[in-house]
Amino acid sequence: MIPLRLGVNIDHVATIRNARGGARPDPVRAARLALEAGADGITAHLREDRRHIGDADIEHLSALCRQLGKPLNFEMAVTDEMRDIALRHRPHAACLVPEKREERTTEGGLDVARGHNAVAPVVQALRDAGVRVSLFIEPSIVQISVAQAIGAEVVELHTGAYCEAAQQGRKDDAQRLLEALQIGTLEAHARGLEVHAGHGLDYETVGPVAAIPQIAELNIGHFLIGEAIFVGLEAAMGRMRALMQAARGGQA
Ligand code: PXP
Repeated sequence: MIPLRLGVNIDHVATIRNARGGARPDPVRAARLALEAGADGITAHLREDRRHIGDADIEHLSALCRQLGKPLNFEMAVTDEMRDIALRHRPHAACLVPEKREERTTEGGLDVARGHNAVAPVVQALRDAGVRVSLFIEPSIVQISVAQAIGAEVVELHTGAYCEAAQQGRKDDAQRLLEALQIGTLEAHARGLEVHAGHGLDYETVGPVAAIPQIAELNIGHFLIGEAIFVGLEAAMGRMRALMQAARGGQA
């Protein structure tokens, strides 16, 4: 069984900080705490509008992850600006995501089938700089095959639609969407891609996704940061990790 890593997305610590301006709460402190509590890596999304994470955060998160020898997963849109920032910091990994200014969060996967002409050179530039490239896509066979063809090493499958259906009690939809994640994972794994998953995961939805044996990493943010308000980040991560472990038969 492939070990299952937990990447903690600390964007929403910055969302709270930015609601007031100033320096608190500090997402870099949250990242340190998460890593010290056993997170396998930190994920941060530098959006074009800098609505949560800012340029200085990326600088400090890069330094922290380097110091602690842990991976930083830099989520970024496919733009020249973000490519240049990624090339300057050379994080362990970059996850290319779609980005629309008006969206509240990353709403769908990157359409690499349509956008491959724009995506492929960014994948190449990052790979040439030694950055592991992941593409955040819907679990569709077409998207997965194009991701492989343009040289991605990792695909992160978008779990948002599955989580939303499950959270809204739409059981048949949730089951169908979970099956799509299972099939997509098998397809990507068979093509030699490492498979990650994330978006919208919580204590209720994490189990069935973590149970897919070929998934190597889950990236979880909003729910964990929200839970941390009530129980602390370490406890929230601990419970999430326990659920992941239970889904893998105790082997996460
Ligand atoms: N993975 C990717 C590629 C994302 O864009 C996000 C959201 O920023 C996440 C994982 C984490 O999603 P959530 O915050 O809903 O857990």
